[in-house]
Amino acid sequence: AESHSLKYWLNQLPKTPASSHKGTRGTLLLIGGNHHMMGAIQLASLAALTTGAGLVKIITQTDHLTALTQAQPELMTYTQQDFEQQAASAKVIGIGPGLDQDDWAVDRFHETLNQDIPKVLDADALNLLAKSPQQDDDWVLTPHPGEAARLLGTSTEAIQSNRIEAVKRLQQKYGGVIVLKGNGTLVYDGKQMELCTAGNAGMAVGGMGDVLTGAITSFIAQGMDLYSAACLGVSLHAHSGDTLANQKSQAGVIPSDLALVMSQLLSYAS
Ligand code: APR
Ligand code: MG
Repeated sequence: AESHSLKYWLNQLPKTPASSHKGTRGTLLLIGGNHHMMGAIQLASLAALTTGAGLVKIITQTDHLTALTQAQPELMTYTQQDFEQQAASAKVIGIGPGLDQDDWAVDRFHETLNQDIPKVLDADALNLLAKSPQQDDDWVLTPHPGEAARLLGTSTEAIQSNRIEAVKRLQQKYGGVIVLKGNGTLVYDGKQMELCTAGNAGMAVGGMGDVLTGAITSFIAQGMDLYSAACLGVSLHAHSGDTLANQKSQAGVIPSDLALVMSQLLSYAS
């Protein structure tokens, strides 16, 4: 596997011309935040905003709409009735943060898979995919080792004992771009493999993966190819974690703070 610098990946991000308007900076749709897990979709949405997406739209449980827009007024919130219309105007759908696996979640999962646009699948979207495996080259899957184990029908220990083999098997089985998370995150698309050497154990905290999902979805919305978007998201996320650990301590590596640091590190592009 290769390891490129953050600057290398930042330079792949299309520049924002002075004539940009919100539509040209990328519209994305995030789906999740089932009961008791609103925070997950909130973190993914925040990260989409702090990494430069033009319009961040969310489909979540009806009871969460008010709280979400109050917490972050830039967000546009919808319910499942609006799915077809919002999916038609989105460049990419990110699904999974706080999704759960109940009937509501299963319906959101299937209607998303029926859409012919790029997708990012995370968390319970991966657990649902593991139950009915299929291939698609137009998606990014972001499993942590436990989710990877379910996707391959094996144990977390087996995944961790040979991560390169695991990411290859995941790509062979599911297609697309696989991001195998954890210390030394791997990104693989069937041809190129990237190893991220940044990041730290302070990032082992609930919600950190949701921030990564928002960032990768945002970079796809801004026009990057899926592999570059995944590599940039992983690198920026990990370096932001290291920045916070240096400024504070590993206990200071909090997902909502990390989302804000990502926008600072975006300026490292030449
Ligand atoms: N070193 C470097 N990076 C790390 C480390 C480490 N020791 N530990 C974690 N990370 C990074 C991972 O690479 C990944 O990007 O932090 C992120 C953690 O993501 P997740 O494991 O998905 O954690 P989380 O955000 O809590 O997941 C939220 O979704 O996956 C489900 O069941 C899970 O309910 C949970 C929810
Ligand atoms: Mg997760």
